[in-house]
Amino acid sequence: MIKKILVTGGLGYIGSHATVELIKSGRTPVIVDNLSNSTPSVATRIKQITGHDTLWHEGDLLDLAFLKTVFSKHEISAIMHFAALKSVGESTENPLRYYLHNLVTTFNLLLCMQEFAVNKFVFSSSAAVYGEPENLPVTEGSQVGTSVANPYGWTKLMMEQILRDVAASQQNWHVTILRYFNAVGAHPSGLLGESPKGTPANLLPYVVQAAAGQQEHLFVYGDDYDTPDGTGIRDYIHVVDLARGHIAALHHLDEIDGTAVYNLGTGRGVSVLELIDAFQKVNGVTVPYKIVPRRPGDIAISYADPTKAQRELGWEATLTIHDACRTAWQWEHARKDE
Ligand code: NAD
Ligand code: WQD
Repeated sequence: MIKKILVTGGLGYIGSHATVELIKSGRTPVIVDNLSNSTPSVATRIKQITGHDTLWHEGDLLDLAFLKTVFSKHEISAIMHFAALKSVGESTENPLRYYLHNLVTTFNLLLCMQEFAVNKFVFSSSAAVYGEPENLPVTEGSQVGTSVANPYGWTKLMMEQILRDVAASQQNWHVTILRYFNAVGAHPSGLLGESPKGTPANLLPYVVQAAAGQQEHLFVYGDDYDTPDGTGIRDYIHVVDLARGHIAALHHLDEIDGTAVYNLGTGRGVSVLELIDAFQKVNGVTVPYKIVPRRPGDIAISYADPTKAQRELGWEATLTIHDACRTAWQWEHARKDE
């Protein structure tokens, strides 16, 4: 039987791009997705890009019996765990749902790993674990947990700790925790991108909606931060670079003794106004925006020090915010034409 990579949430935004890169690198992914934030058409689009059928199972990671059938059907060599609830705001309104979902889905995977002797795991963590960083750029050694601002971030930090403890208790486990900064952009083919069901959770989808006239204005949350133009600064990393980061992590997984943590970011901070400006220039459109008060819980500045991933995984971001703005706009048109 061919060994496969189990990709949870592989029809979602980042997971679908990682699936494409997995296929391109000669691996055989098998996706589990419950379609709570994606559609089956993504599997068709992955085939259009790669020329390969994508194996996938519709089902919920909360359902341990279902998950066991997937592990029984396929010989799994490693897991990439993308599936999660990821809206920061929603996690504050309904923390129990977030703790339950994000933790139990991960517990079920760990139980299956033990039962089916799978010892390799790549985990989607987040810069949210750093909260308000004490030093910039943010390194993997920066404080975590002192200022995590929301239950979503806590679920990621808790899962990191659980993974560390479980990996340490097992023989020969290889776990890589990837802390993504702000994922942006879409696939250059125009076939994959972010398609949030309901209200978007992040800045660039709102920029796109304002440019497309679906929102009267983009609300810029605060221009009184201690930054050069007063707006918040983040590290926007192209989703294709993120996806490639997973292939690099997989490639080096055997070298990891227990658990390792890597930042996946560009190392460059970009303000909200700079992102709007880039979007307007690259796409020749206007983004109507209004400055409004700060969003509660937001921090002023966060950007990664990605040198550990460069040094140990041989990975670095190669795409720019211009690439992200162009592909995000292209994706918006492709979706409209569907
Ligand atoms: P997404 O919502 O687009 O993708 C998640 C996928 O998982 C969706 O297809 C959804 O249907 C599926 N899913 C959710 N719960 C499931 C369950 N119980 N069983 C089966 N499938 C389920 O999210 P994304 O932006 O691709 O994020 C992927 C991962 O990266 C998440 O863990 C997220 O927390 C993390 N992350 C994202 C960002 C970002 O900027 N997007 C930044 C840091 C970390
Ligand atoms: C970026 C900047 C806002 C929307 C969150 C999570 C993080 C990760 C990425 C998953 C900030 C400003 C935003 C808008 C705005 N996700 N903004 N108007 O808050 O940095 O990070 O998503 O793990 O964990 O916390 O991302 O895209 O919401 O905001 O002015 O309509 O854009 O104030 O400065 P954030 P974001």
